[in-house]
Amino acid sequence: MQRLKAALPAALLMLCSGLPALANAANLTISCGAVGAELQLCKEAVEAWSKQTGHSVEVVSTPNSATERLSFYQQILSAQSADIDIIQIDVVWPGMLANHLLDLHEVLPANATQGYFQAQLDNATVDGRLVSMPWFTDSGLLYYRKDLLEKHGKPVPQTWDELTTTARSIQQAEREAGNANLWGYVFQGRAYEGLTCNALEWIGSQPGGGLIDAQGNIQVDSPATRTALTLAKSWVGDISPRGVLNYTEEEGRGVFQSSNALFMRNWPYAWALVQSPESAIKGQVGIAPLPKGGENGSHASTLGGWGLSVSRYSAEPKLAGELVAYLTSAQQQKRRALVGAYNPVIESLYEDPELLAAMPYYSQLRTILDAGVMRPAAITADRYPRVSNALFDRVHGVLSGEAPVDQAVTELGSDLKRIKRRNW
Ligand code: GLC
Repeated sequence: MQRLKAALPAALLMLCSGLPALANAANLTISCGAVGAELQLCKEAVEAWSKQTGHSVEVVSTPNSATERLSFYQQILSAQSADIDIIQIDVVWPGMLANHLLDLHEVLPANATQGYFQAQLDNATVDGRLVSMPWFTDSGLLYYRKDLLEKHGKPVPQTWDELTTTARSIQQAEREAGNANLWGYVFQGRAYEGLTCNALEWIGSQPGGGLIDAQGNIQVDSPATRTALTLAKSWVGDISPRGVLNYTEEEGRGVFQSSNALFMRNWPYAWALVQSPESAIKGQVGIAPLPKGGENGSHASTLGGWGLSVSRYSAEPKLAGELVAYLTSAQQQKRRALVGAYNPVIESLYEDPELLAAMPYYSQLRTILDAGVMRPAAITADRYPRVSNALFDRVHGVLSGEAPVDQAVTELGSDLKRIKRRNW
Protein backbone atom coordinates (compact mmCIF):
# COMPACT_ATOMS: atom_id res chain seq x y z
CA MET A 1 0.00 0.00 0.00
CA GLN A 2 1.28 3.39 -0.87
CA ARG A 3 1.14 6.03 1.80
CA LEU A 4 -0.24 9.40 0.88
CA LYS A 5 2.65 10.83 2.84
CA ALA A 6 5.12 9.18 0.52
CA ALA A 7 3.17 10.06 -2.59
CA LEU A 8 2.69 13.79 -2.09
CA PRO A 9 5.01 16.37 -0.61
CA ALA A 10 3.42 17.76 2.54
CA ALA A 11 3.21 21.33 1.30
CA LEU A 12 1.40 20.31 -1.88
CA LEU A 13 -0.97 18.19 0.14
CA MET A 14 -1.84 21.13 2.33
CA LEU A 15 -2.43 23.35 -0.66
CA CYS A 16 -4.74 20.76 -2.22
CA SER A 17 -6.73 20.11 0.91
CA GLY A 18 -6.81 23.71 2.10
CA LEU A 19 -5.58 22.66 5.54
CA PRO A 20 -3.89 25.22 7.78
CA ALA A 21 -0.17 25.24 7.05
CA LEU A 22 1.20 23.79 10.28
CA ALA A 23 4.94 23.64 10.39
CA ASN A 24 4.84 20.07 11.68
CA ALA A 25 1.62 18.79 10.12
CA ALA A 26 1.83 15.04 9.79
CA ASN A 27 -0.15 12.42 7.97
CA LEU A 28 -1.81 9.48 9.58
CA THR A 29 -3.43 6.42 8.10
CA ILE A 30 -6.37 4.75 9.77
CA SER A 31 -8.36 1.65 8.90
CA CYS A 32 -11.74 1.88 10.57
CA GLY A 33 -14.37 -0.51 9.45
CA ALA A 34 -16.51 -1.50 6.56
CA VAL A 35 -19.84 -2.91 7.71
CA GLY A 36 -22.97 -0.78 7.33
CA ALA A 37 -22.38 2.91 8.00
CA GLU A 38 -19.10 2.21 9.84
CA LEU A 39 -16.71 3.53 7.22
CA GLN A 40 -18.77 6.62 6.44
CA LEU A 41 -19.11 7.55 10.12
CA CYS A 42 -15.42 7.10 10.68
CA LYS A 43 -14.54 9.21 7.64
CA GLU A 44 -16.77 12.05 8.84
CA ALA A 45 -15.22 12.07 12.30
CA VAL A 46 -11.71 11.87 10.90
CA GLU A 47 -12.45 14.82 8.62
CA ALA A 48 -13.72 16.86 11.57
CA TRP A 49 -10.52 16.10 13.48
CA SER A 50 -8.38 16.97 10.47
CA LYS A 51 -10.11 20.34 10.16
CA GLN A 52 -9.58 21.04 13.85
CA THR A 53 -5.93 20.03 13.95
CA GLY A 54 -4.65 20.57 10.44
CA HIS A 55 -3.30 17.02 10.21
CA SER A 56 -4.21 15.04 7.16
CA VAL A 57 -5.49 11.50 7.51
CA GLU A 58 -5.97 8.77 4.95
CA VAL A 59 -8.82 6.35 5.65
CA VAL A 60 -8.24 2.85 4.33
CA SER A 61 -11.20 0.55 3.71
CA THR A 62 -11.22 -3.18 4.46
CA PRO A 63 -13.30 -6.22 3.53
CA ASN A 64 -16.62 -6.77 5.39
CA SER A 65 -15.68 -10.15 6.81
CA ALA A 66 -13.96 -9.98 10.20
CA THR A 67 -11.86 -13.00 9.24
CA GLU A 68 -10.58 -11.31 6.07
CA ARG A 69 -9.92 -8.11 7.97
CA LEU A 70 -7.81 -10.04 10.44
CA SER A 71 -5.59 -11.55 7.76
CA PHE A 72 -5.19 -8.14 6.13
CA TYR A 73 -4.01 -6.62 9.42
CA GLN A 74 -1.85 -9.63 10.26
CA GLN A 75 0.01 -9.22 7.00
CA ILE A 76 0.65 -5.53 7.60
CA LEU A 77 1.66 -5.98 11.22
CA SER A 78 3.88 -8.99 10.72
CA ALA A 79 5.74 -7.06 8.02
CA GLN A 80 6.25 -4.39 10.73
CA SER A 81 4.94 -1.94 8.20
CA ALA A 82 4.40 1.72 9.08
CA ASP A 83 1.68 1.90 6.42
CA ILE A 84 -1.18 1.97 8.89
CA ASP A 85 -1.02 3.91 12.15
CA ILE A 86 -4.45 3.09 13.60
CA ILE A 87 -6.49 -0.06 13.13
CA GLN A 88 -9.89 -1.14 14.29
CA ILE A 89 -9.58 -4.22 16.49
CA ASP A 90 -12.24 -6.85 17.15
CA VAL A 91 -12.83 -7.79 20.82
CA VAL A 92 -11.41 -11.25 20.08
CA TRP A 93 -8.08 -9.98 18.74
CA PRO A 94 -6.19 -8.24 21.59
CA GLY A 95 -4.59 -11.47 22.85
CA MET A 96 -3.24 -12.45 19.45
CA LEU A 97 -2.14 -9.01 18.19
CA ALA A 98 -0.89 -7.50 21.46
CA ASN A 99 2.80 -7.72 20.53
CA HIS A 100 2.25 -5.52 17.49
CA LEU A 101 0.24 -2.86 19.31
CA LEU A 102 1.27 0.11 21.37
CA ASP A 103 0.38 0.36 25.05
CA LEU A 104 -2.12 3.20 24.81
CA HIS A 105 -1.34 4.25 28.38
CA GLU A 106 1.86 5.69 26.86
CA VAL A 107 0.05 8.04 24.50
CA LEU A 108 -3.40 8.76 25.92
CA PRO A 109 -4.14 11.29 28.66
CA ALA A 110 -4.26 9.72 32.14
CA ASN A 111 -8.06 10.02 32.46
CA ALA A 112 -8.84 8.78 28.93
CA THR A 113 -10.48 5.56 30.11
CA GLN A 114 -12.59 7.12 32.85
CA GLY A 115 -16.21 5.97 32.80
CA TYR A 116 -15.60 3.10 30.35
CA PHE A 117 -17.05 -0.32 31.15
CA GLN A 118 -14.43 -2.16 33.18
CA ALA A 119 -15.10 -5.45 31.35
CA GLN A 120 -14.28 -3.76 28.05
CA LEU A 121 -11.06 -2.30 29.41
CA ASP A 122 -10.05 -5.65 30.91
CA ASN A 123 -10.67 -7.34 27.57
CA ALA A 124 -8.46 -4.77 25.84
CA THR A 125 -5.64 -5.13 28.37
CA VAL A 126 -2.94 -7.75 27.83
CA ASP A 127 -0.23 -8.17 30.48
CA GLY A 128 -1.10 -4.78 31.91
CA ARG A 129 -0.88 -3.05 28.51
CA LEU A 130 -3.96 -1.33 27.11
CA VAL A 131 -3.62 -2.42 23.49
CA SER A 132 -6.97 -1.19 22.25
CA MET A 133 -9.29 1.63 23.22
CA PRO A 134 -12.86 0.24 23.39
CA TRP A 135 -15.10 1.96 20.82
CA PHE A 136 -18.42 0.16 20.58
CA THR A 137 -20.02 -3.02 21.85
CA ASP A 138 -22.11 -5.57 19.98
CA SER A 139 -24.43 -8.41 20.80
CA GLY A 140 -26.43 -10.75 18.60
CA LEU A 141 -30.10 -9.77 18.25
CA LEU A 142 -33.21 -11.21 16.69
CA TYR A 143 -34.81 -8.80 14.25
CA TYR A 144 -38.40 -9.54 13.30
CA ARG A 145 -41.12 -8.12 11.07
CA LYS A 146 -43.80 -6.79 13.41
CA ASP A 147 -46.32 -6.44 10.58
CA LEU A 148 -45.99 -10.03 9.38
CA LEU A 149 -46.17 -11.54 12.88
CA GLU A 150 -49.27 -9.47 13.59
CA LYS A 151 -50.90 -10.33 10.28
CA HIS A 152 -50.47 -14.06 10.94
CA GLY A 153 -51.28 -13.83 14.64
CA LYS A 154 -47.93 -15.16 15.86
CA PRO A 155 -45.93 -14.01 18.90
CA VAL A 156 -42.19 -13.26 18.87
CA PRO A 157 -40.61 -16.73 19.17
CA GLN A 158 -39.10 -17.66 22.52
CA THR A 159 -37.32 -20.85 21.44
CA TRP A 160 -35.45 -21.87 18.29
CA ASP A 161 -38.09 -24.56 17.65
CA GLU A 162 -40.80 -21.92 17.80
CA LEU A 163 -38.81 -19.66 15.45
CA THR A 164 -38.54 -22.57 13.00
CA THR A 165 -42.25 -23.37 13.07
CA THR A 166 -43.36 -19.73 12.85
CA ALA A 167 -40.93 -19.00 10.03
CA ARG A 168 -42.05 -22.05 8.08
CA SER A 169 -45.76 -21.30 8.39
CA ILE A 170 -45.54 -17.57 7.60
CA GLN A 171 -43.15 -18.18 4.72
CA GLN A 172 -45.57 -20.71 3.23
CA ALA A 173 -48.66 -18.55 3.75
CA GLU A 174 -46.97 -15.46 2.29
CA ARG A 175 -45.67 -17.34 -0.72
CA GLU A 176 -49.09 -18.77 -1.39
CA ALA A 177 -50.43 -15.22 -1.25
CA GLY A 178 -47.94 -14.16 -3.96
CA ASN A 179 -45.00 -12.94 -1.82
CA ALA A 180 -42.73 -15.29 -3.75
CA ASN A 181 -39.38 -14.08 -2.42
CA LEU A 182 -40.08 -14.23 1.30
CA TRP A 183 -37.74 -16.31 3.45
CA GLY A 184 -38.25 -17.21 7.10
CA TYR A 185 -34.80 -16.63 8.58
CA VAL A 186 -31.50 -15.10 7.48
CA PHE A 187 -28.27 -15.28 9.44
CA GLN A 188 -24.48 -15.27 8.93
CA GLY A 189 -23.68 -18.67 7.40
CA ARG A 190 -20.45 -18.06 5.49
CA ALA A 191 -17.36 -19.89 6.81
CA TYR A 192 -15.96 -16.93 8.80
CA GLU A 193 -16.02 -15.34 12.26
CA GLY A 194 -19.69 -14.38 11.95
CA LEU A 195 -20.68 -18.05 11.72
CA THR A 196 -18.66 -18.73 14.87
CA CYS A 197 -20.79 -16.07 16.60
CA ASN A 198 -24.06 -17.62 15.34
CA ALA A 199 -23.02 -21.18 16.17
CA LEU A 200 -22.03 -20.19 19.72
CA GLU A 201 -25.52 -18.76 20.19
CA TRP A 202 -27.22 -21.92 18.92
CA ILE A 203 -25.00 -24.13 21.09
CA GLY A 204 -24.85 -21.85 24.15
CA SER A 205 -28.64 -21.48 24.28
CA GLN A 206 -29.10 -25.27 24.74
CA PRO A 207 -29.09 -26.61 28.30
CA GLY A 208 -25.50 -27.58 29.13
CA GLY A 209 -24.22 -26.22 25.81
CA GLY A 210 -20.83 -24.59 25.34
CA LEU A 211 -17.61 -24.60 23.32
CA ILE A 212 -14.78 -24.05 25.80
CA ASP A 213 -15.44 -23.08 29.42
CA ALA A 214 -13.76 -20.31 31.40
CA GLN A 215 -11.13 -22.77 32.69
CA GLY A 216 -10.25 -23.81 29.15
CA ASN A 217 -12.01 -27.22 29.20
CA ILE A 218 -13.36 -28.29 25.82
CA GLN A 219 -17.10 -28.84 26.09
CA VAL A 220 -18.22 -28.95 22.50
CA ASP A 221 -18.61 -32.70 21.93
CA SER A 222 -22.03 -32.85 23.59
CA PRO A 223 -25.70 -33.64 22.94
CA ALA A 224 -26.38 -29.88 23.20
CA THR A 225 -24.15 -29.19 20.18
CA ARG A 226 -25.75 -32.04 18.23
CA THR A 227 -29.26 -30.71 18.94
CA ALA A 228 -28.27 -27.15 18.01
CA LEU A 229 -26.58 -28.09 14.74
CA THR A 230 -29.32 -30.52 13.69
CA LEU A 231 -31.86 -27.74 13.95
CA ALA A 232 -29.64 -25.18 12.18
CA LYS A 233 -28.99 -27.58 9.33
CA SER A 234 -32.74 -28.08 8.88
CA TRP A 235 -33.14 -24.35 8.12
CA VAL A 236 -30.95 -24.31 5.02
CA GLY A 237 -33.07 -24.63 1.90
CA ASP A 238 -36.24 -24.63 4.03
CA ILE A 239 -36.68 -21.35 5.96
CA SER A 240 -33.28 -19.95 4.90
CA PRO A 241 -32.08 -19.63 1.30
CA ARG A 242 -29.11 -21.83 0.38
CA GLY A 243 -27.32 -18.58 -0.32
CA VAL A 244 -27.11 -18.08 3.46
CA LEU A 245 -24.05 -20.36 3.29
CA ASN A 246 -22.24 -17.37 1.84
CA TYR A 247 -23.85 -14.57 3.87
CA THR A 248 -21.96 -12.18 6.10
CA GLU A 249 -23.86 -9.50 8.05
CA GLU A 250 -24.51 -7.29 5.05
CA GLU A 251 -25.94 -9.91 2.67
CA GLY A 252 -28.54 -10.96 5.24
CA ARG A 253 -29.39 -7.35 5.97
CA GLY A 254 -29.91 -6.72 2.26
CA VAL A 255 -32.49 -9.51 2.07
CA PHE A 256 -34.26 -8.45 5.27
CA GLN A 257 -34.24 -4.75 4.45
CA SER A 258 -35.73 -5.33 1.02
CA SER A 259 -38.67 -6.99 2.75
CA ASN A 260 -37.68 -10.54 1.84
CA ALA A 261 -37.22 -12.12 5.27
CA LEU A 262 -39.34 -12.50 8.38
CA PHE A 263 -36.50 -12.97 10.91
CA MET A 264 -32.85 -11.94 10.84
CA ARG A 265 -29.97 -12.48 13.23
CA ASN A 266 -27.71 -9.45 13.22
CA TRP A 267 -25.82 -6.91 15.36
CA PRO A 268 -27.30 -3.61 16.59
CA TYR A 269 -25.89 -1.54 13.69
CA ALA A 270 -28.54 -3.03 11.41
CA TRP A 271 -31.23 -1.21 13.41
CA ALA A 272 -30.19 2.21 12.12
CA LEU A 273 -30.27 0.97 8.53
CA VAL A 274 -33.47 -1.10 8.51
CA GLN A 275 -35.25 1.84 10.14
CA SER A 276 -33.75 4.46 7.81
CA PRO A 277 -35.90 6.40 5.32
CA GLU A 278 -34.45 4.33 2.44
CA SER A 279 -35.54 1.05 4.00
CA ALA A 280 -38.49 -0.84 2.51
CA ILE A 281 -39.51 -1.96 6.01
CA LYS A 282 -39.10 1.24 8.01
CA GLY A 283 -41.39 1.22 11.07
CA GLN A 284 -42.11 -2.51 10.74
CA VAL A 285 -39.15 -3.92 12.61
CA GLY A 286 -38.84 -5.16 16.19
CA ILE A 287 -35.85 -6.56 18.06
CA ALA A 288 -35.76 -9.24 20.73
CA PRO A 289 -33.27 -11.51 22.47
CA LEU A 290 -32.28 -14.50 20.35
CA PRO A 291 -34.44 -17.55 21.12
CA LYS A 292 -33.68 -20.10 23.84
CA GLY A 293 -32.65 -23.66 23.11
CA GLY A 294 -35.92 -25.14 24.37
CA GLU A 295 -37.90 -24.41 27.53
CA ASN A 296 -34.92 -25.28 29.76
CA GLY A 297 -32.41 -23.46 27.63
CA SER A 298 -31.41 -19.82 27.88
CA HIS A 299 -31.14 -16.75 25.67
CA ALA A 300 -27.56 -16.61 24.44
CA SER A 301 -26.14 -13.67 22.58
CA THR A 302 -22.53 -13.54 21.42
CA LEU A 303 -20.74 -10.40 22.54
CA GLY A 304 -18.78 -8.53 19.94
CA GLY A 305 -17.46 -5.05 19.51
CA TRP A 306 -14.42 -3.16 18.35
CA GLY A 307 -11.75 -0.84 19.65
CA LEU A 308 -9.05 1.33 18.12
CA SER A 309 -5.38 0.44 18.40
CA VAL A 310 -2.14 2.13 17.45
CA SER A 311 0.38 0.03 15.58
CA ARG A 312 3.73 -0.37 17.28
CA TYR A 313 5.33 0.45 13.94
CA SER A 314 3.59 3.81 13.57
CA ALA A 315 5.94 6.71 12.92
CA GLU A 316 3.49 9.06 14.68
CA PRO A 317 2.36 7.23 17.83
CA LYS A 318 1.61 10.35 19.85
CA LEU A 319 -0.51 11.92 17.14
CA ALA A 320 -2.23 8.61 16.44
CA GLY A 321 -3.10 8.49 20.16
CA GLU A 322 -4.69 11.94 19.86
CA LEU A 323 -6.89 10.80 17.00
CA VAL A 324 -7.86 7.63 18.90
CA ALA A 325 -8.82 9.73 21.92
CA TYR A 326 -10.94 12.00 19.72
CA LEU A 327 -12.71 9.16 17.91
CA THR A 328 -13.48 7.23 21.09
CA SER A 329 -14.55 10.28 23.11
CA ALA A 330 -18.02 10.36 24.71
CA GLN A 331 -19.15 12.95 22.18
CA GLN A 332 -18.20 10.73 19.22
CA GLN A 333 -19.64 7.59 20.82
CA LYS A 334 -22.92 9.40 21.29
CA ARG A 335 -22.96 10.57 17.70
CA ARG A 336 -22.21 7.08 16.40
CA ALA A 337 -24.97 5.68 18.59
CA LEU A 338 -27.50 8.23 17.38
CA VAL A 339 -26.66 7.98 13.72
CA GLY A 340 -25.46 4.41 13.33
CA ALA A 341 -26.75 2.45 16.38
CA TYR A 342 -23.16 1.61 17.40
CA ASN A 343 -23.48 1.02 21.11
CA PRO A 344 -21.29 3.04 23.44
CA VAL A 345 -18.81 1.58 25.90
CA ILE A 346 -19.08 4.53 28.29
CA GLU A 347 -21.52 3.66 31.06
CA SER A 348 -23.09 7.11 31.54
CA LEU A 349 -24.21 7.26 27.90
CA TYR A 350 -26.79 4.57 28.71
CA GLU A 351 -28.53 7.20 30.85
CA ASP A 352 -28.22 10.00 28.33
CA PRO A 353 -31.78 11.37 27.82
CA GLU A 354 -31.25 12.16 24.14
CA LEU A 355 -29.94 8.67 23.44
CA LEU A 356 -32.69 7.02 25.46
CA ALA A 357 -35.32 8.94 23.52
CA ALA A 358 -33.78 8.05 20.16
CA MET A 359 -33.15 4.38 21.06
CA PRO A 360 -36.33 3.07 22.68
CA TYR A 361 -34.80 -0.41 22.95
CA TYR A 362 -31.80 0.68 25.07
CA SER A 363 -33.02 -0.70 28.38
CA GLN A 364 -33.73 -4.05 26.71
CA LEU A 365 -30.33 -3.96 25.07
CA ARG A 366 -28.57 -3.58 28.43
CA THR A 367 -30.25 -6.80 29.61
CA ILE A 368 -29.19 -8.59 26.44
CA LEU A 369 -25.63 -7.32 26.81
CA ASP A 370 -25.52 -8.46 30.42
CA ALA A 371 -26.51 -12.01 29.37
CA GLY A 372 -23.92 -12.07 26.59
CA VAL A 373 -21.65 -14.99 25.76
CA MET A 374 -17.95 -14.28 25.31
CA ARG A 375 -16.00 -16.14 22.68
CA PRO A 376 -13.08 -18.06 24.27
CA ALA A 377 -10.50 -15.59 22.95
CA ALA A 378 -8.81 -14.61 26.20
CA ILE A 379 -8.07 -18.19 27.27
CA THR A 380 -6.96 -19.38 23.82
CA ALA A 381 -5.07 -16.14 22.98
CA ASP A 382 -3.02 -16.51 19.81
CA ARG A 383 -4.66 -19.88 19.09
CA TYR A 384 -8.13 -18.30 18.98
CA PRO A 385 -8.20 -17.99 15.15
CA ARG A 386 -7.50 -21.74 14.85
CA VAL A 387 -10.28 -22.49 17.35
CA SER A 388 -12.73 -20.25 15.54
CA ASN A 389 -11.69 -21.61 12.12
CA ALA A 390 -12.25 -25.17 13.30
CA LEU A 391 -15.71 -24.25 14.58
CA PHE A 392 -16.87 -22.34 11.54
CA ASP A 393 -15.44 -24.88 9.08
CA ARG A 394 -17.07 -27.86 10.79
CA VAL A 395 -20.39 -26.01 11.21
CA HIS A 396 -20.30 -24.85 7.61
CA GLY A 397 -19.74 -28.46 6.55
CA VAL A 398 -22.89 -29.44 8.43
CA LEU A 399 -25.01 -26.59 7.04
CA SER A 400 -23.94 -27.28 3.47
CA GLY A 401 -24.68 -30.99 3.83
CA GLU A 402 -21.05 -32.11 3.41
CA ALA A 403 -20.80 -33.77 6.81
CA PRO A 404 -23.34 -35.45 9.09
CA VAL A 405 -23.86 -33.66 12.42
CA ASP A 406 -22.57 -36.48 14.58
CA GLN A 407 -19.33 -36.87 12.63
CA ALA A 408 -18.73 -33.10 12.45
CA VAL A 409 -19.16 -32.66 16.21
CA THR A 410 -16.84 -35.57 17.02
CA GLU A 411 -14.24 -34.17 14.61
CA LEU A 412 -14.59 -30.68 16.04
CA GLY A 413 -13.91 -32.10 19.51
CA SER A 414 -10.70 -33.73 18.16
CA ASP A 415 -9.68 -30.55 16.29
CA LEU A 416 -9.92 -28.52 19.49
CA LYS A 417 -7.97 -31.11 21.50
CA ARG A 418 -5.23 -31.03 18.90
CA ILE A 419 -5.11 -27.22 18.94
CA LYS A 420 -5.07 -27.15 22.75
CA ARG A 421 -2.40 -29.83 23.16
CA ARG A 422 -1.74 -30.11 26.91
CA ASN A 423 -2.78 -26.59 27.69
CA TRP A 424 -3.91 -23.40 26.07
C1 GLC B 1 -19.28 -7.96 14.60
C2 GLC B 1 -18.77 -8.06 16.02
C3 GLC B 1 -17.42 -8.73 16.05
C4 GLC B 1 -17.49 -10.06 15.34
C5 GLC B 1 -18.00 -9.90 13.93
C6 GLC B 1 -18.21 -11.24 13.26
O1 GLC B 1 -18.54 -7.04 13.89
O2 GLC B 1 -18.69 -6.82 16.63
O3 GLC B 1 -16.98 -8.88 17.37
O4 GLC B 1 -16.26 -10.73 15.35
O5 GLC B 1 -19.22 -9.20 13.93
O6 GLC B 1 -18.68 -11.10 11.97
